Amino acid sequence: MTTHADRIQLNSSDITQLSVDAIVNAANRSLLGGGGVDGAIHRAAGPELLAECRTLGGCETGQAKMTRGYRLPARYVIHTVGPIWQGGDASESDLLAACYRNSLQLAVEHGVRTIAFPAISCGVYGYPLDEAARIAVREVRAFLAHDGRIETVYLVCFGRDVREAYERAL
Ligand code: AR6
Repeated sequence: MTTHADRIQLNSSDITQLSVDAIVNAANRSLLGGGGVDGAIHRAAGPELLAECRTLGGCETGQAKMTRGYRLPARYVIHTVGPIWQGGDASESDLLAACYRNSLQLAVEHGVRTIAFPAISCGVYGYPLDEAARIAVREVRAFLAHDGRIETVYLVCFGRDVREAYERAL
């Protein structure tokens, strides 16, 4: 029997190289690109990605929007906007949880069975790693427990510190 524990995998690859149905982008509200994983995804997907993003009208923090993956091995990119860490009293934890939930919901609506997440908000946006990893694991587990459509969720650990935070959270 497959328990939902088997459906969460840590992966230390560059997310742009993964052959999954969808990768998640840690974007900003403009959805027009940036640094970090966002920059890497746009470089690897090619200019068609930015062209599609321009049609989306941005995205609120905690929400998610989907595009095609263009030159990426992934079929889709789900763009979500994590909260900027401001000390913890600005609803950051609720907004970060919403990023995971809304991305997974959008994924299942499009028939996605394999999906990879970067550590949303854990780079430029400054979210404390252990707290962010706990929220990611909690939300993914809760979603998988009530929805059988997603086969595997990859939590991409770009760097040893991220991997260790996820290992503690799992
Ligand atoms: N594959 C997987 N993970 C990566 C990759 C990669 N190629 N590159 C970086 N990461 P960040 P944020 C990890 O800063 O904190 C952008 O400019 C990285 O090590 O990309 O949500 C956007 O446009 C970290 O663990 O995203 C926004 O303005 C995680 O991805 C802003 O940054 C997220 O780091 C969003 O900031």
